[in-house]
Amino acid sequence: MSKRFENKVVVVTGAAQGIGEAYAKALGAEGASVVVADLNVESGERVAQEIESAGGTALFVRTDVASHESAAAMVEAAVAAYGGIDGLVNNAAIYGDMAFDLLISVDWDYYKKFMSVNMDGALVMTRAVYPEIRKRGGGSIVNQSSTAAYLYSGFYGLAKVGVNGLTHQLAHELGGLQIRVNAIAPGPTDTAATRTQAGDAAKDLVKGLALKRMGQPEDMVGACLFLLSDESSWVTGQIIAVDGGQTFRA
Ligand SMILES: NC(=O)c1ccc[n+]([C@@H]2O[C@H](COP(=O)([O-])OP(=O)(O)OC[C@H]3O[C@@H](n4cnc5c(N)ncnc54)[C@H](O)[C@@H]3O)[C@@H](O)[C@H]2O)c1
Repeated sequence: MSKRFENKVVVVTGAAQGIGEAYAKALGAEGASVVVADLNVESGERVAQEIESAGGTALFVRTDVASHESAAAMVEAAVAAYGGIDGLVNNAAIYGDMAFDLLISVDWDYYKKFMSVNMDGALVMTRAVYPEIRKRGGGSIVNQSSTAAYLYSGFYGLAKVGVNGLTHQLAHELGGLQIRVNAIAPGPTDTAATRTQAGDAAKDLVKGLALKRMGQPEDMVGACLFLLSDESSWVTGQIIAVDGGQTFRA
């Protein structure tokens, strides 16, 4: 039986660990050629090697999603290796080692750097990648939002509101090229980054979830693969919460 992503090339940013790693590995297992695009060289190379050891195809390219030059170099490397790009997952973010501060007091340079990665990074990467997706006759972009966009969560949540806005706007700008743009909004998910951020508070978060357990990175995979695949061929501009019932919108 053929795999769901055979002959497809998918770039996953922030794939050196956590949820991005789960996306990259699932795509590799489903036959995609995966570009692991991350700042972290050691972990990124490990993920690419593990995908290959499991029988998949993957390449690590050191990438800073906040840099147009770095994004362009990633696209060049991906096209040189695999001949094109069909999908992009904008998952990278400053999260695990994020500073705790308020919007009204956060150091301005830190705030600008944070937004350049967590919000603008998705746009920088989309601008670099979409011409290649266009050459393939269309494809899919998945942005990583968060339920933090719907909750009080300071500049982290504000960046995710921006990601949701980008998802709506880019869905329209790119829809005519048959490029779909959607987002996943995970609830609290058990990654090393969350353990650093939430610590014991994670236990309280879980009490508020309908399903009474933390998400695992693998819980996000079904939605991501659905949105990347032709199974969602008439779905665009949507933000899908995968959050154990943390948030409800009537
Ligand atoms: N874990 C959760 O509970 C949770 C919940 C909702 C949303 N999210 C979102 O999911 C995504 C992944 O979360 P995670 O818990 O796996 O985080 P993580 O911190 O484990 O992984 C983030 C990855 O992004 C990379 N990265 C950071 N800045 C980068 C840059 N400028 N360029 C390229 N790569 C960069 C890091 O090196 C890291 O590998 C993030 O967008 C996060 O905001 C996470």
